[in-house]
Amino acid sequence: MSQIRAAITGVHGYVPDYVLTNEELATIVDTNDEWITSRTGIKTRHILKGEEQGTSIMVIEAIKGLLEKTNTRPEDVEVVICATVTGDSIFPDTANIAAYHTGLVNAFGFDLNAACSGFLYALTVGAKMVEGGTHKKVIVVGADKMSSIIDYTDRTTCVIFGDGGGAVMLEPTTEDVGIIDYQHHGDGSGEKYLYLVAGGSRKPATVDSVMAREHFVRQNGRPVFKAAVTGMSDVVMKVMARNNLDAENLNWLVPHQANVRIIQTVSKMANFPMEKVMINIQNYGNTTAGTIPLCLWDYESQLRKGDNLVLTAFGGGFTWGALYLKWAYDGE
Ligand code: ACO
Repeated sequence: MSQIRAAITGVHGYVPDYVLTNEELATIVDTNDEWITSRTGIKTRHILKGEEQGTSIMVIEAIKGLLEKTNTRPEDVEVVICATVTGDSIFPDTANIAAYHTGLVNAFGFDLNAACSGFLYALTVGAKMVEGGTHKKVIVVGADKMSSIIDYTDRTTCVIFGDGGGAVMLEPTTEDVGIIDYQHHGDGSGEKYLYLVAGGSRKPATVDSVMAREHFVRQNGRPVFKAAVTGMSDVVMKVMARNNLDAENLNWLVPHQANVRIIQTVSKMANFPMEKVMINIQNYGNTTAGTIPLCLWDYESQLRKGDNLVLTAFGGGFTWGALYLKWAYDGE
């Protein structure tokens, strides 16, 4: 019997309408377009505005578009995994909220928290469910409303992040396509460089924690930058080497979009040309779990059946990894 693999059979993304430009940020904090562009590559990011608009709003839109594109009946979906660090609330999970609002009546869902590596981890978990033969339609989502945990008085973080996300459908295949290999890592000692102080069980919300702005992301950028470059390039090179991939036969590198300088350095270290690296950070900034599905969505029309893709991410935790897949269909 041929081996069953999990293949991505569709992708759909969603970003909110409101566009926050570098120029507008320069009216909020002491920054400017030149600094943001040269240090990060970011020009604009999208922000989800309005009262009580959580991450599920974006997840619902991404799933609706995915169901339509893949001609999937909502009742046929069995699992929804939502990678996010900005779920609507600590519980219930955003995957279930989105499943309810999109008519996925037979699906169970859960959220997965691994910061910027969340989508890759979730894709791996979803793929194992499909490969095991127990599930035939699994939706994997990566989405974050980073504006809900960003301090817009802190210029070192507020210029980087944005809101958005995307969803993919995983289905079984016996063709020579689908998810083939992965390598993921974690290192909890990285917590001190990228974290939220309060709002979890260790330090629940109090008036004092709110006054001290402890519910916003804190980051020491330089050590995170270094660890991201080292971690991603190491794991990309390992996954490429053991699958006999090189600059010729690897069609696309799909990196997490945190900083264009990180992406350039990783591609250089992996000896991989920038023309074949997916980049959309200029439009969306860092949407945490959302960046990789948003890249696949933006580049979908250029993808061909059988293309070799290596996806890679690095994020808070620290968490990092790379995943190798063969694309399963011709983009429109
Ligand atoms: N505008 C103008 N100046 C600024 C700004 C700004 N927005 N932000 C910082 N600066 C200043 C600093 O104050 C500093 O000034 P000083 O030299 O007078 O002290 C100077 O610019 C340089 O600051 P650095 O922090 O050294 O700048 P760097 O080049 O490292 O860029 C950045 C900062 C963009 C944060 C970078 O370090 C980075 O991208 N880090 C990695 C981010 C990442 O990958 N995160 C992981 C994923 S996120 C997640 O998991 C949720």
